[in-house]
Amino acid sequence: MLQFPDMKHAHALVMGNWKLNPGNTLEAKTLFAELKKKIPKTTTAKVVVAPPFLFIPELAKGAASVIKLGAQDVHYEERGAVTGEIGAGMLAFFGVEYVIVGHSERRALGETDTQVNKKVQALLKRKLTPVVCIGERLRDSQGQFFNHIAAQLKALTEGLTPLQLQKVVIAYEPIWAIGTGETATAENVKEMQLFIVSTLTKLYERKVAEKVRLIYGGSVKESNAKDIYEQGGMSGFLVGGASLEAAQFAAIIKAVE
Ligand code: PGA
Repeated sequence: MLQFPDMKHAHALVMGNWKLNPGNTLEAKTLFAELKKKIPKTTTAKVVVAPPFLFIPELAKGAASVIKLGAQDVHYEERGAVTGEIGAGMLAFFGVEYVIVGHSERRALGETDTQVNKKVQALLKRKLTPVVCIGERLRDSQGQFFNHIAAQLKALTEGLTPLQLQKVVIAYEPIWAIGTGETATAENVKEMQLFIVSTLTKLYERKVAEKVRLIYGGSVKESNAKDIYEQGGMSGFLVGGASLEAAQFAAIIKAVE
């Protein structure tokens, strides 16, 4: 068994995924302003908020250096006959830096591994950071779910150079833990960190695999963040529900400092 040292990045990444919230620009601006107030300018964490597309231009005006802007999806085409879509160039124009792709809620609507891979390439071309979600629907006692993770990693990395891979953030988000209040334990997260690094080591080499930032998502809140961060071996969080409450989100950020 390969031994991996603690490969945590020096600074944690905490990204809030607002999903289809809040209801209008005014509420979005209020929540963003509350976050700015609650998160100290001296924080060592990289903090990102991914609001719905429509709020991005307005929030970009008030984006503080302490909170970076993210988006929840992107299309792999930059322009053309793709009704209803948003391209990487458009996001870059508004100052977006991080973009979630392959979230399980989008995969449930039909997003495929191949599309995820194309989106990653489109984002990297624009120097945006892809935050790629992977995760199993359920855990079985024989550990078959690890095969699913390995297959997602293989598809994600198809055609990516080592240098490109190192620019990707991988978010391990077990579907059973998203929005359910059920969180993976720190041991589950640690085990998955080791598995992802060893899978990427087989696909590339160890020194490349070790540089990829891994984060955890799935019912992260103030009460479990510290434990998972300190013992789970991953370098940050993707936060859904708790990112809509400024005090909770700020407490999660504090837990990773
Ligand atoms: P949750 O969502 O924190 O509400 O579980 C996480 C996510 O879907 O990214």
